[in-house]
Amino acid sequence: MPGPARRRKAEAVPRSSASTALVLAGRALLRGRLQPVEIAIDDTGRIQSIGKVRSGAPRHDVGDAVILPAAVDMHVHLREPGGPAEAETIPTGTVGAALGGVSLVGVMPNTRPPLSDTESWQDKVRLVEGRAAVDVLLFATPTVPRALPFLARRAGGFKVYLAPTTGIEESPASSELPALWDRLAELRLPVSVHAEDPTRFVTSLRPSSPAQWNGHRPVAAEKAALDAMARAPKLLRLHAAHVTTVAGVRSLKAAGLSFEATAHHLLLSDRSGTDARFKVNPPLRSEPERSELWEAFRRGEVPILASDHAPHPGSAKEVPFDRAPSGVPGVETGLPLLLAKVRSGDLDLEVLLSAACDRPARWLGQPLGRLAPGHRANLLVVDFTKRSKVEGRSLRSPCGWSPFEGWEVVRPREHYRDGQRIVEAGEYVGGPVGRVVRPDYAPGEPTDPLLPTG
Ligand code: DOR
Ligand code: ZN
Repeated sequence: MPGPARRRKAEAVPRSSASTALVLAGRALLRGRLQPVEIAIDDTGRIQSIGKVRSGAPRHDVGDAVILPAAVDMHVHLREPGGPAEAETIPTGTVGAALGGVSLVGVMPNTRPPLSDTESWQDKVRLVEGRAAVDVLLFATPTVPRALPFLARRAGGFKVYLAPTTGIEESPASSELPALWDRLAELRLPVSVHAEDPTRFVTSLRPSSPAQWNGHRPVAAEKAALDAMARAPKLLRLHAAHVTTVAGVRSLKAAGLSFEATAHHLLLSDRSGTDARFKVNPPLRSEPERSELWEAFRRGEVPILASDHAPHPGSAKEVPFDRAPSGVPGVETGLPLLLAKVRSGDLDLEVLLSAACDRPARWLGQPLGRLAPGHRANLLVVDFTKRSKVEGRSLRSPCGWSPFEGWEVVRPREHYRDGQRIVEAGEYVGGPVGRVVRPDYAPGEPTDPLLPTG
């Protein structure tokens, strides 16, 4: 991590007409360099200016700590409705997000019942309103065709499961895909895809370890599903969830499609653990494949970081491996694990901020994820001199375990949502003010996460 930069004259930036409510002073990454900065936040909770601020507004100086945009995690499972509440709820999952530096979560629809029609939409909104600590963008499943027009006017995106996984028993046959893509293309919303082709699963195996799980749902299944995505119409805003291999990265880039990698696929291999706490879909891959994916991420070739936060109760993971559910918690640890990699010099901060903040925000049409005037002041304060260790039992998620037990993390010291502090000294101090948001693509803003960001 570079030390404090020399003070430099700040550039002139536009000012809004609202009055300044708070000035945050510290260091920030601007034009590729960590430098001293003052960020004025207006009374509507937007960033007003970045540079020297002349204002009598309250000033909070964070010293040598670094002010970062808060992250956007477009892939979490919060287990409501239907539970199990011992795994997660919307309040616990969104407080975990706030503590992990995430100010907006994309919530997946594989609940009981799934979010697929009018009724389940209304239930879900009732469950979020007044209970969520951060903003929520709701993904629906397109499995009830008559509900699509209703959902398209309300949901933040759609999630397509090409393979069975938690809560998903059936997936579309490849012959049904062209019609499904056509229906979704009309809706003009982001479509996230669980890309595994179940016809490539190796069913002769009865897996009893993460390495055998990798053999059962092999890389070839991911490849076949990604190839099917590449054949979809180009006007579709398609995004591949949890890509696990560099071959996948290359084919998605060639097809011009958006995609994400998770912290667990970047940092854990199928030999990192032997029990069902390391069982996840798609599986953890071999160490050489993991390290290749990590190198691609470090080079900035993976546009989006997401957690695929999928907690299960500890007791559910203690049964024989083949009967345990797949999924690992991650919303509270994903960004802090990678901030620790920045601290140790293994990852460039700019690469991390593009993948964790800017690009997912663009893809989901949110005025977030960058230090930019007019953006929501969803900001973090990170002190890179302070590190700690992941402790499953101390996480906010009631599941109480993590596959990253004992790993080093750098947690945000403060988190601001619309200029209001929701994490202070590493503790959650906010309220249930999270809203349901939808994509709003600002005219002239590049929204494609594969484009270079500025
Ligand atoms: O491992 C997984 N767990 N993969 C998924 O696709 C779903 C998730 C869950 O909801 O548990
Ligand atoms: Zn998922």
